[in-house]
Amino acid sequence: MNTLSALQKARYAYEPKLPGVLRDKIANIDCEMGSPTESTGDQAEVKKLFAKTYGSPVARFKKGKNPNAGKKINLGVILSGGQAPGGHNVIAGLYDGLKKSNPESRLFGFLGGPAGIMNDKVVEIDDTLMDAYRNTGGFDIIGSGRDKLETEEQFELSLTTCRKHDITGLVIIGGDDSNTNGAVLAEYFAAKKAGITVVGCPKTIDGDLKNEHIETSFGFDTATKTYAELIGNIEKDANSAKKYWHFIKLMGRSASHIALECALQTHPNICIISEEVEQKNMTLAQVVDQICDVVVKRAEKGMNYGVALIPEGLIEFIPEVGALIAELNDKMAHHTDYFATLKTLEEQQEWLNQQLSKDSSYVFSSLPRAIQEQLLMDRDPHGNVQVSRIETEKLLIEMAAHKLAQMKVEGTFKGKFSALSHFFGYEGRCAFPSNFDADYCYTLGYSAFILMNHGLTGYISNVANLHKPAEEWVPGGCPLTMMMNMEQRHGTQKPVIKKALVELDGAPFKAFAAAREAWTVNTDYTFPGAIQYYGPDEVCNQPTETLKYEKA
Ligand code: FBP
Repeated sequence: MNTLSALQKARYAYEPKLPGVLRDKIANIDCEMGSPTESTGDQAEVKKLFAKTYGSPVARFKKGKNPNAGKKINLGVILSGGQAPGGHNVIAGLYDGLKKSNPESRLFGFLGGPAGIMNDKVVEIDDTLMDAYRNTGGFDIIGSGRDKLETEEQFELSLTTCRKHDITGLVIIGGDDSNTNGAVLAEYFAAKKAGITVVGCPKTIDGDLKNEHIETSFGFDTATKTYAELIGNIEKDANSAKKYWHFIKLMGRSASHIALECALQTHPNICIISEEVEQKNMTLAQVVDQICDVVVKRAEKGMNYGVALIPEGLIEFIPEVGALIAELNDKMAHHTDYFATLKTLEEQQEWLNQQLSKDSSYVFSSLPRAIQEQLLMDRDPHGNVQVSRIETEKLLIEMAAHKLAQMKVEGTFKGKFSALSHFFGYEGRCAFPSNFDADYCYTLGYSAFILMNHGLTGYISNVANLHKPAEEWVPGGCPLTMMMNMEQRHGTQKPVIKKALVELDGAPFKAFAAAREAWTVNTDYTFPGAIQYYGPDEVCNQPTETLKYEKA
């Protein structure tokens, strides 16, 4: 362990707030079960694939009797995918619930993500280990990884490891893909009568794992507050120096929730929302035109500076580029070995020219070389393009500079355009969790234990009423199959948890759309400042703007 900072020491002592119902003895926490559920789409196919776990009811905790309290059990926990602030507190909530129920119960952490359970790399979590990570950011207590748990062989390896350690419940802390795999694993264990339950926890800074039951994924709050602080600082700099346009790409994969939330917090001059670009069927050139319009308008008022937010998934949502990526994914998935033999971009281009449709081939050839190379990089283990590695912010700067230079010649632009690029993502994923995330995560982990204690499997831990004080939160669990539909992945139809994108008729987007015109020319930047952990509620215990608008 490194030397401790003063904040680290102070945060160790922070006691996360639990909802009222969970403050009782474990023996007094009952589960109220709702009616059977259906998957969000493709019900017949999903039902067929999840014969044992499909259609389970939503569970809500209530005061009552829990006959399983006090049982001595062993549980396992996995951190899966990208880091998100609060992961340590999910484990802390799980650990405290388990030990409160029976101090002799044991918690095993699998090291390095799903690979840990397959390779039996494990550490037992005890008080000393747990206490060194409470309320801190990062996933370093046990590490994370992006390996997939999806084949029968991998399930069998997991089963062997669980049996070796006498584990009867597994908690998978992950995003939509990891929870999808968790659902398949739960089904596998149920079909095998393995006696092992699987419960997920909704993790991802991207905010795209949400639905009527999951109000937000953990980490979104802290990450967006961290980026908003940085954006506010840049806005202050832009407004002081008055000489640069700052193009800031923000993480978030396909969904623009992070960009939208940061825009609501900081009022930039431009914020592109990928989902809107797709809905309006905009071309890349039209996106650039829109940016140039704002640059010109501001220049006419003597403001040759500004701030533009770009969601990292934008490139996939420009329909012509999206179609190209879909074709590339398909070709690369079906010709993986052959594609690997093509060593230079020229060889790849030649092969792609024969494989791609005429339109996609044209779009591909019109992109700068660097972007072409980035589009051909390896997919992640779930088959997604690694959008964080595509430099869309630089592409847009280059194209806008080109267009503005032309306009200058034509006499329609008289200002200056000097642009800088930034990419915020990793800066926020391991930040000290905000009080909201510290409390929310602890509640998710504690609830995961209660769900398992009641013998439920194929569930994801969830908490409702998150816009209210923690005392009034409503914790429980929701069946994973309920969130599924069938989608094309790696060239085949698979059951997956539906990704939540920004809804253009949703309250957060509407609030942004109503204000953005004013933000283009009237510099109306706001400065959220750093996350505060101690102080008045309005400063340190506020949920995101997205959550406030959604629940208003
Ligand atoms: P998940 O939470 O879905 O795993 O991803 C979060 C994320 O930060 C994305 O926003 C980003 O595109 C991706 O991870 C980057 O991946 P990596 O950590 O592999 O660089």
